[in-house]
Amino acid sequence: MAESKKLLRALSGETQAVPPVWMMRQAGRYLPEYRATRAQAGDFLSLCYNPDLATEVTMQPIRRYGFDAAILFADILLVPHALGVDLTFVQGEGPRLSTVTTEADLAALKSTQEIHDTLAPVYQTVVNLSESLPKDVALIGFAGAPWTVATYMIAGQGTPDQAPAHALKDENRVLFQQLLLKITDATIEYLHTQIMAGAEVVMLFDSWAGSLKGADFAAYSLAPTRHIISTLRKLHPDIPVIAFPRQGGEGVVGFANATGANCIALDYSVDAQWAVENVQRDGCVMGNLDPAHMVTGGQALIDEVRRIREVFSGGPHIFNLGHGITPDADPDNVQLMIDTLRENA
Ligand code: CP3
Repeated sequence: MAESKKLLRALSGETQAVPPVWMMRQAGRYLPEYRATRAQAGDFLSLCYNPDLATEVTMQPIRRYGFDAAILFADILLVPHALGVDLTFVQGEGPRLSTVTTEADLAALKSTQEIHDTLAPVYQTVVNLSESLPKDVALIGFAGAPWTVATYMIAGQGTPDQAPAHALKDENRVLFQQLLLKITDATIEYLHTQIMAGAEVVMLFDSWAGSLKGADFAAYSLAPTRHIISTLRKLHPDIPVIAFPRQGGEGVVGFANATGANCIALDYSVDAQWAVENVQRDGCVMGNLDPAHMVTGGQALIDEVRRIREVFSGGPHIFNLGHGITPDADPDNVQLMIDTLRENA
């Protein structure tokens, strides 16, 4: 039977006149219905660990816009939390974590198998979603890539340049590599269980890949991604994977072939025509509209949507932003993006 989900068709290499579309952070604070459900949950982590409410916020943008894919509502920092790290989200400031910077901190983390105690509600959300989503909407599970997760675990918060993680890498490379391995193993376990629960695609967010240069990019962004994908494929041979080595620059060239990813998500710093020649020649690409257009809208948004659709029209493409939609975005601009993308369809 022909695959009815546009997203899965793109991931298997099909070129479509109108590409499938979804948005990073599509369930988020720009939507009034998200803010209402989040208030009901109390705080962000309680929302992530409440399967009924997490299912509800995942469904909200699907109901409102008819996206071609839903992404599980969770966060990349749930893996460190499940490993025993203290985690809180400070309103308006972002995440705060207890740090892992010594052998003792690393030894105090829970075992990979123990993460499921904390993450069980997330798997339940995946089960709920696979039962509630419309038949033509694909369900994406996800995790952070090990380097990006490590940057938060080492610094205890988000940082502009990931300096604490780079410092640990330079001062105690053995410990740094052991931490990355620990995260890698937990991530494989986490994604495997998401797939068992019904995730049809998985995405790896390497949001801070861009601060790894040269051999470090190969060792700490590309290699863990390759290891995660090849291990998952032993258990799930056909699982499609989207990799997002954000701001990886020239590093995105050949990344799909080297890691086994079916699709490379392109941030908005990437020139689309360059990406056609250097990345899309190897398979599907996703992106790369600047999320600022979701705030400003108007003719500039329309022109950009048409341009990106046109530039990538010769190969498999998933329409998306180059990074997550921001809380100050106007929900009407999202509708304008979708209407423009699907015009003359
Ligand atoms: O809709 C979706 O995309 C699915 C859910 C999702 C969230 N976070 C929900 C969320 C996904 C895929 C993520 C990924 C994530 N989380 C990344 C990688 C992608 C990226 O943005 O680069 C990172 C680095 C994180 C860590 C994180 N989570 C930070 C730094 C913050 C605080 C900054 C912010 O945007 O508020 C979060 C919080 C977060 N994760 C929110 C949401 C909807 C906002 C929390 C709130 O409701 O207050």
